Amino acid sequence: MNEGERLTELAKRRGFYFPAAGAYGGAAGFWTYGPQGAALKDNIEDAWRDRFVVRAGHQEISAPDVMPEAVFEASGHLDGFDDMIIECSECGTTHRADHIVEDATDIEEAESLPNEEVMDIIAEQDIECPSCSASLADEPVDNFNLMFETNIGPGSSSPGYLRPETAQGIFVEFPRLSEYARNQLPFGVAQIGKAYRNEISPRKSLVRVREFTQAELEHFVDPEEDEPPLSTVEDVTLPLYSGANQQADDSGLEQLTVREAVDSGIVTSDWVAYYLGVARDWYERIGIDMDRFRFRQHLPGELAHYASDCWDAEAEIDGDWIEITGFAYRGDYDLRKHAQHSGQDYTVFKQYDEPITVERPTVDPEMGYLGPEFGGDAGAVADALEQLAADDPDAFEGDEVTVELDGQAVTVPVERTGYSVEEVTENGEHITPHVVEPSFGVGRLIYTVLAHAYTEDEVDGEERTYLELPAEQAPTTVGVFPLMDRDGLGEYARELAEALRRAGHSVTYDDSGAIGRRYRRQDEIGTPYCVTVDYESLGKPEDGEDPEELQADTVTLRERDSTAQKRVSIDGLAEALGRLVGGEVTFDDL
Ligand code: ATP
Ligand code: GLY
Repeated sequence: MNEGERLTELAKRRGFYFPAAGAYGGAAGFWTYGPQGAALKDNIEDAWRDRFVVRAGHQEISAPDVMPEAVFEASGHLDGFDDMIIECSECGTTHRADHIVEDATDIEEAESLPNEEVMDIIAEQDIECPSCSASLADEPVDNFNLMFETNIGPGSSSPGYLRPETAQGIFVEFPRLSEYARNQLPFGVAQIGKAYRNEISPRKSLVRVREFTQAELEHFVDPEEDEPPLSTVEDVTLPLYSGANQQADDSGLEQLTVREAVDSGIVTSDWVAYYLGVARDWYERIGIDMDRFRFRQHLPGELAHYASDCWDAEAEIDGDWIEITGFAYRGDYDLRKHAQHSGQDYTVFKQYDEPITVERPTVDPEMGYLGPEFGGDAGAVADALEQLAADDPDAFEGDEVTVELDGQAVTVPVERTGYSVEEVTENGEHITPHVVEPSFGVGRLIYTVLAHAYTEDEVDGEERTYLELPAEQAPTTVGVFPLMDRDGLGEYARELAEALRRAGHSVTYDDSGAIGRRYRRQDEIGTPYCVTVDYESLGKPEDGEDPEELQADTVTLRERDSTAQKRVSIDGLAEALGRLVGGEVTFDDL
């Protein structure tokens, strides 16, 4: 079994995740999180919220999963959200053409190649259908739009789509969100929610699914003035795999600090560099192994339709690099598109420090001339003249000026346009903010955290499997066990479990089987601490023990990774666990 298979076996057996609707054969690309997985997911989302929303002072919203077609027409997803598809005419299976090329050759990012080149490679290499081994050499490579379409209400007159990214729910509401932020840039709006993509070939359990959770932050900035607080992360070291290195077939990583990455120009946007630094430390906090991690720059052909620069955080599992987050500089693409398509104002008013005086070309066309000359088009000609004066005042320098109306050139004598240049005082200007976007896939984070936490060792001559999860992320913080469920041990342990729950800990109570087996069960789901209640806890001597020597109201506290055990008082146990989970003390310090 490889790492991924081993993990999926554990995930199904211990309730992290499993294929959804198995009773009916399921549907590829849909997974249900079991009790452990749902708790782990909540913990990772909480840690994300803590770092990227609360500590950053950003706002969080929750927008609908289904949105009308117009949103995705404007965003470009209707036209441009495609993957390359190839269909085997022998068995009818469809595949992602770029992936089968990557699997069969040394090419790493076939997505960045044009369809024709991918087709040529498939033909030259005589790549076979992964399902039936028939040759795919003569099959066409087409574009396939990944959005799930639906109808809003009965009938088909109102098409809608399941959002392929949570981001559009933020962009489309920008005018209102900007108002809530008192129209003061920079500000960030975050969202954790479902996204849907009709992936051509779902695979690797949570890695490529058709319904998944994204945690996205859209940070709106003034590109001229706003700068990220780079000094807070400038010493963080980033393992960078630049576009230049990829194109030179050099798989070496450059270990640069955030500051060096910016100064050397390898990461062109200070904002993107800032988020790489913030995220790198956050990945470590949630348990991603930094020796199996890199930031990879997108190659030009790979960039999404909205992005001018993008870096992916990637984690290694089974020798493959998996994208877990995209960091994109989206510029003003999305806000500009929504402004154009909706006719609404997607700008913010930027106040100058001091008012300035500017020359403003204006027109005041003679309608008495335009009316008889252009009839019903007179108003449109006047509008076109006004636009031209704003865009190209030099056009009014001759005797005549020409504007276009429905593709027709229309000429007007300049003296009839009322053209003049006025001096006006301006207090500010309307600007379209730029957007920096870290976009995390929660399922892929979970998969990576679990894969990197999976550990095997030997304890007391027996093989053991455990998940070395950070205590903050573990689905259960503490397992509470009575030595046996008799002589009051069970009642005592149940009361202790209740008290720990009341203090906010996630607690599992278990009284079945030998203590060793109970430890193993908790180890396998990554529970960092276990507490065992024994006769000493009750103050009852056993086998000739001296009652004077007993420490009543103490329990054995066991640490998962070292399997070390300590006798601790139940007074203050809840607080001590809180400090252990928060990283304020170590087990040895107790
Ligand atoms: P890929 O190239 O692997 O298809 P992508 O570049 O399309 O990914 P983005 O569009 O940047 O991914 O999406 C942002 C994040 O959402 C990704 O980094 C990933 O964590 C997550 N994500 C995207 N598609 C899927 C999917 N099909 N299943 C699970 N997570 C996904
Ligand atoms: N919001 C980035 C993406 O999902 O493509």
